[in-house]
Amino acid sequence: MKAGGTGRRKLRTAMCGPMSYPSRSLLAMNSESVAISAAGLARAFGEVNAVNGVDLSVASGEMYGFLGPNGAGKSTMVRMLTTLLRPTSGSARVAGFDVAQETEAVRLRIGVALQDAALDPKQTGRELLDLQARLYGLAKRDRQRRVDEVIQIANIGDAIDRRISTYSGGMARRLDLAAALIHEPIVLFLDEPTTGLDPASRQTVWEEVGRLNRELGMTIFLTTQYLEEADALCDRIGIIADGKLVAEGTPTALKRAIGTDVIIVRVSGDPELVRGRLADIPDVERIDVRGDQVLISCAHGAATISPVAVALADSDVEVRDLTLRTPTLDDVFLQLTGGHLTEGTAA
Ligand SMILES: Nc1ncnc2c1ncn2[C@@H]1O[C@H](COP(=O)(O)OP(=O)(O)OP(=O)(O)O)[C@@H](O)[C@H]1O
Ligand SMILES: [Mg+2]
Repeated sequence: MKAGGTGRRKLRTAMCGPMSYPSRSLLAMNSESVAISAAGLARAFGEVNAVNGVDLSVASGEMYGFLGPNGAGKSTMVRMLTTLLRPTSGSARVAGFDVAQETEAVRLRIGVALQDAALDPKQTGRELLDLQARLYGLAKRDRQRRVDEVIQIANIGDAIDRRISTYSGGMARRLDLAAALIHEPIVLFLDEPTTGLDPASRQTVWEEVGRLNRELGMTIFLTTQYLEEADALCDRIGIIADGKLVAEGTPTALKRAIGTDVIIVRVSGDPELVRGRLADIPDVERIDVRGDQVLISCAHGAATISPVAVALADSDVEVRDLTLRTPTLDDVFLQLTGGHLTEGTAA
C-alpha cells in the first residue's frame, strides 16, 4: 500500500489553526547545526515493522538521500519526520523540535512533497498555491510575492491558470514541489520526487532541488529508488531495507567500502604475458586473467589507468580495449541485502 495519499491535505488542514507565519528573521534565527535527527525511530503497522529502529543525523544544509526498494519503509520514515504519523517508539527532532511533542513548530519550518500528491483537480495551479499560502498564514503582500516566486519553480507556463485535472504527471509534481516551498521552509522533505517522470522532467526536478540546496542552503531529505539520483544529488545516502538502515555514507565512501576499482584490459595474444608488466605499478593490488581479459584491481583506477596504458604499450600484446569499472551503489546494495536495487523490485 502506498503511504501518504491524504498527507498533504492533513498537513494543510493542520495549518488552518491559529498560527502566525514566522518572519524570515525568526527562521534565520534557527541556527541548529543538526537539521534532522532520529533515535531508535520505529513504526509498526500490526505485525509489519515498517520502520524498525532507525538512528540518523542530517546536518543543516545537507542533501540526504534515503534509498531503498518498494516497501523498505521510506514513506513511513518521511511521514514520521513530517509529523503526519506518530512513531510507535523512538524519537526524532526536525529543525530543532520534537516531531511528536512540538508538531506545530516542526510544521512551520518544513516543506513536504509526498509520494502521492493529493491535489484538488478542480483548482487551478495558481489557486492551489494561493490557498497553500493562506493556510500558512502569509499576509496578503507576502502571499502574492511568494506565489509569483514559486510559480517560477513550478515552471509550467500558462498552465498555471488551468485546472490541475489537465496537468501531466510531471506538471503536477512540479506544482506540488512549488507548493511545498511557499512558506520558505528550512528543511524540505521529498518522497520519491521523480518516480514516474520522463527523463527531461526528472532532470528539471534535479536541477531545481540542487539549486534550492546550493543557493538557499536548504536541508533536503529525499527518498528515492534510483541509484543514479542518489549518486548525483546527495551529499550522503542512507540505505534502508526492511525498515532498517543497513548502510550510510557519502556515495563515494559507500562504493569504496565494498570494493576496489577494476581496470579491464582486453588483449589479442596471451594475457598472461601482461601480468609481469603490471605487477610493479604501485597502486595495483591484484591481477586476474579471465579469457582474453586482464582484470587489474586497484584503489584509484582513474590515476592508475595511465601507468597501466604505458606498461601495456611497452609489451608485446596488442590491447583491444581498456575500461575502468568503479563499484556502483547497486554493488553496495547487493552486498548488503543480497538483492538488486532496481526499479520495481520488491524488498
Ligand atoms: N498505513 C499502513 N498500514 C499498513 N501497512 C502499511 C501502512 N503504510 C505502510 N505500510 C507497510 O509498511 C511497509 C513500508 O511501507 P512504505 O510505504 O514506508 O515503503 P516505501 O519504502 O515508501 O515503499 P515505496 O517505494 O513502494 O513507496 C510496507 O510493508 C507497507 O505495506
Ligand atoms: Mg514510498
